[in-house]
Amino acid sequence: MHKPQIILGIETSCDETAAAVVQNTGHGVQMLSNVVASSASVQAKYGGIIPEQAAREQLKSIIPVVEESLRQAQCKSDDLDAIAVTEGPGLIGSLLVGVETAKVLSTVWQKPLVPVNHLIGHFYANWIGSIPTFPAVGLLVSGGHTDLVLFTGHGRFKYLGGTRDDAAGEAFDKTARLLGLPYPGGPVISKLAEKGNPQAFKLPRPMIDSDDFDFSFSGLKTAVASVVNKWELGVGSSKTTNNEQRTQNLAASIEAAIIDVLAAKTIKAVQTYKVDQILVAGGVAANQQLAETLHSVVQKNLSHVKLFIPPPYLCTDNAAYIATAAFFNYHPVNPLNLQANPNLSLQHNSCV
Ligand code: KG4
Ligand code: ZN
Repeated sequence: MHKPQIILGIETSCDETAAAVVQNTGHGVQMLSNVVASSASVQAKYGGIIPEQAAREQLKSIIPVVEESLRQAQCKSDDLDAIAVTEGPGLIGSLLVGVETAKVLSTVWQKPLVPVNHLIGHFYANWIGSIPTFPAVGLLVSGGHTDLVLFTGHGRFKYLGGTRDDAAGEAFDKTARLLGLPYPGGPVISKLAEKGNPQAFKLPRPMIDSDDFDFSFSGLKTAVASVVNKWELGVGSSKTTNNEQRTQNLAASIEAAIIDVLAAKTIKAVQTYKVDQILVAGGVAANQQLAETLHSVVQKNLSHVKLFIPPPYLCTDNAAYIATAAFFNYHPVNPLNLQANPNLSLQHNSCV
């Protein structure tokens, strides 16, 4: 099969409309453009994502975003070797916009169409500007997923475990909401946490010592709800801390609780499977405290291990990692047969 050199990626799984043109030089992957239009500010007004609203925003943005990605890359459709698109998981209305657009472009421009699992795609942000090798433990921390996998090659991995209830991103978003903070909660909590004391509140670290690679974050949400309820009743507010300070302290305590569990399970997976590379991916990987904690744990206990964390703008949803994933998992399909799949999981593609 002819090896593609330039791929247009399209990603519309949630509230970001993204298109990117990525080039594989044979010595690594380079972004020629990476355009993201987010409707998060629209969703913020409602305190979370309203699926139909997100789909309508996708429809408004998709053509301008694809055009802009080609313009910035100084590419014409003729220069493209293939089109990659997120097939799932995600919100069906949002996914359909990207998938149907990609099917039309692939048919009209006569370019191969490569579907990409959004969850696997996230990991490929680590291949932009770097070249990780295998085997590697992968930690995916996004808004809807928290999973640990053992990669043995491109598209080859074993599923180790995942969250039994809320994802790490969801834990940030839901606790932020309890505190009356805007959506998405992760960046807001982490900003407040910079000025807070992570030991101020004793929050649970669910399943941190469990004998598996699973996670559970819903207990954390309940613990935070109980602190906030007490505040509302005027209980537990100390004379020495003002409202702003106690919110910062609670934010820092929430962030620390989430990070402690993520770091502990990731290190356990590395030790169990004796690998020397870690790939972190997903929106929560943009969290600087998570990056610092993982770096320091690795440096202290596992100095031979190489830790890959993409720069924050490549952690949150974008199409550059979708196009990059397609280079390394190049399996074109007949555009007429591709269906958006909102329920696609990591297990779906799991094989070793
Ligand atoms: O991967 P992503 O962009 O979308 C999904 O595929 O879900 O992840 C979005 C999640 C949201 O829950 C958001 O709060 C979280 O990533 N997030 C962060 C940070 N930036 C985004 N969480 C913690 N710290 C951050 N700096
Ligand atoms: Zn994502």
